Amino acid sequence: MTEHEIDFAGQSVIVTGGGSGIGRAAARAFAERGARVLAVGRRPEPLTETADGHPTIHPLAVDVTSADGPARIVEAALTLSGRLDVLVNNAGVVGRTPLGSITREEVNRQLETNLVAPMFLTQEALPSLEAVGGAVINVSTAVGQRGWPDMSVYGASKAGLDFLSRAWAAELGSRGVRAVTVAPGPTDTPVLTNNGYSEADLARVESENTARFPQGRVNTADEVAWWIVAIAHRRHGAQVNGAWFPVDGGGSVT
Ligand SMILES: NC(=O)c1ccc[n+]([C@@H]2O[C@H](COP(=O)([O-])OP(=O)(O)OC[C@H]3O[C@@H](n4cnc5c(N)ncnc54)[C@H](OP(=O)(O)O)[C@@H]3O)[C@@H](O)[C@H]2O)c1
Repeated sequence: MTEHEIDFAGQSVIVTGGGSGIGRAAARAFAERGARVLAVGRRPEPLTETADGHPTIHPLAVDVTSADGPARIVEAALTLSGRLDVLVNNAGVVGRTPLGSITREEVNRQLETNLVAPMFLTQEALPSLEAVGGAVINVSTAVGQRGWPDMSVYGASKAGLDFLSRAWAAELGSRGVRAVTVAPGPTDTPVLTNNGYSEADLARVESENTARFPQGRVNTADEVAWWIVAIAHRRHGAQVNGAWFPVDGGGSVT
């Protein structure tokens, strides 16, 4: 082991949305570097798949928006490992919301999952994170920083999440807890099919992504997971706090 290697031996990590996409890649990336990982999602089967071949990944089927979800999740991590070093608030949902057809149901679904759930899960995790000098990684999006037609609710939920990282960095930094936003651009995951997009929607989003993101390709989930892990690392990420870190091929600056 050299001083440059990213090692999480003996550490405990929670990854929400760990059953697919970026969360699955992050759970495995932490586990491969020695962490014990609690992978959280609503459906048990994808979580079991994430853990397949990774004995230090433990699936937990809990809805992050449920009233008792935060307590159940943190308690499970502490029962497994006796400590908590990193919380990755990655579970998220997306949906088109042209202004003329916004419904309260869809607003609540997106805000509860993407913005409110991270508040209460981080609140629950805070004493444990503070005990070890831990980190919170909020997985946002490149969309939250720019105008994007038909995505006002999703963008607002993620812009709010971006602010949580800044506020928590200011509020918790002196207590040894860091909070950072990792903001992916379009990434090859099942997110759109998981949220009911049709084939026509998928084709439209693909052409929008090609037009808006200069690198001309989407991220792999592993490319995003790498930065989550590196920034979460206590030594390598030590001076990264409150930042908004895009992994988007330059999409947020063009
Ligand atoms: N893919 C992209 O292009 C992209 C771009 C920018 C940002 N992001 C963000 O990256 C994060 C991960 O997205 P992804 O692309 O990897 O999508 P994904 O494959 O759909 O993963 C999202 C995960 O969140 C879980 N989840 C959703 N609601 C939940 C709830 N209430 N409680 C617990 N788990 C819940 C889902 O599992 P269950 O359905 O089983 O609960 C799913 O495994 C999201 O926050 C997303 O907004 C993605």
